[in-house]
Amino acid sequence: MKPLLHSVPQPAIDLPYYVPAGHECELFELAWHKRLPLLLKGPTGCGKTRFVAHMASKLGLPLHTVSCHDDLTAADLTGRYLLKGGDTVWADGPLTRAVREGGICYLDEIVEARKDVTVVLHPLTDDRRILPLDRTGEELQAPDTFMLVVSYNPGYQTLLKSLKPSTRQRFVAIEFDFLPIDHEIAVVAAESGLSSDRVRPLLLLARRLRALKGQDLEEGVSTRLLVYCASLIAAGVSSEEAVTATMIEPLTDDLDVKKALIEVARATLS
Ligand SMILES: Nc1ncnc2c1ncn2[C@@H]1O[C@H](COP(=O)(O)OP(=O)(O)OP(=O)(O)O)[C@@H](O)[C@H]1O
Ligand SMILES: [Mg+2]
Repeated sequence: MKPLLHSVPQPAIDLPYYVPAGHECELFELAWHKRLPLLLKGPTGCGKTRFVAHMASKLGLPLHTVSCHDDLTAADLTGRYLLKGGDTVWADGPLTRAVREGGICYLDEIVEARKDVTVVLHPLTDDRRILPLDRTGEELQAPDTFMLVVSYNPGYQTLLKSLKPSTRQRFVAIEFDFLPIDHEIAVVAAESGLSSDRVRPLLLLARRLRALKGQDLEEGVSTRLLVYCASLIAAGVSSEEAVTATMIEPLTDDLDVKKALIEVARATLS
């Protein structure tokens, strides 16, 4: 699909502000209508979470978000029996709640979750669309309004932390990257209140620093950090201090790399 580069969209009233890079909004809507699960991949701070919030709001769906971590088990998602005043009562987990109530269940950083999580996701992400709850003996049929969205950052993956093909191949997948420069300037200006003219040099610096990813840096400067930087400058912090605090310090602890980044910043912003 061709990215739409001809115009910079303006923030929509009421909806969480999201500037598309291409046809991802249409693809999301289609996946939703066809009841297909969606996988979003891309670097940190490039707009994945904002996109899901925007689409949930646009489609008028409740959004159940779970940030996955390496201790997250299937029971954390589905639910467990809890002791309450001497009784044992079943408490739904966020995934079960989303399946019962309908809406979008968004599992952020899915690769971090324990392996047993995939066991509950598989029957939910093929044409059966069921969630078996072994402990209660129930088998929930997902309503038409239910949609599963997962995301992860491929950069953080190791061989141990990746999705199995049998899991990946259950999703329609969209790759995210940083927006084309004029769109990213519009986003950073809109989010920070700093004028586009003052945001542009920060973007040029960010692009230079992003080019160092894989050499000296594990990750490039995210749109999120650019918004932080521009917000500090809009609040009166000097460019040099703001850049150091948001575009250099968060990227590395290595003194030599830091020095090199400061040089790049001086050369770009002077
Ligand atoms: N396309 C976009 N439209 C509007 N805002 C955006 C867009 N992309 C990034 N942003 C801005 O960047 C910030 C970070 O985006 P977001 O939290 O969605 O990143 P993410 O991809 O979910 O990152 P992570 O993988 O770290 O969770 C947002 O809060 C927003 O200010
Ligand atoms: Mg996110």
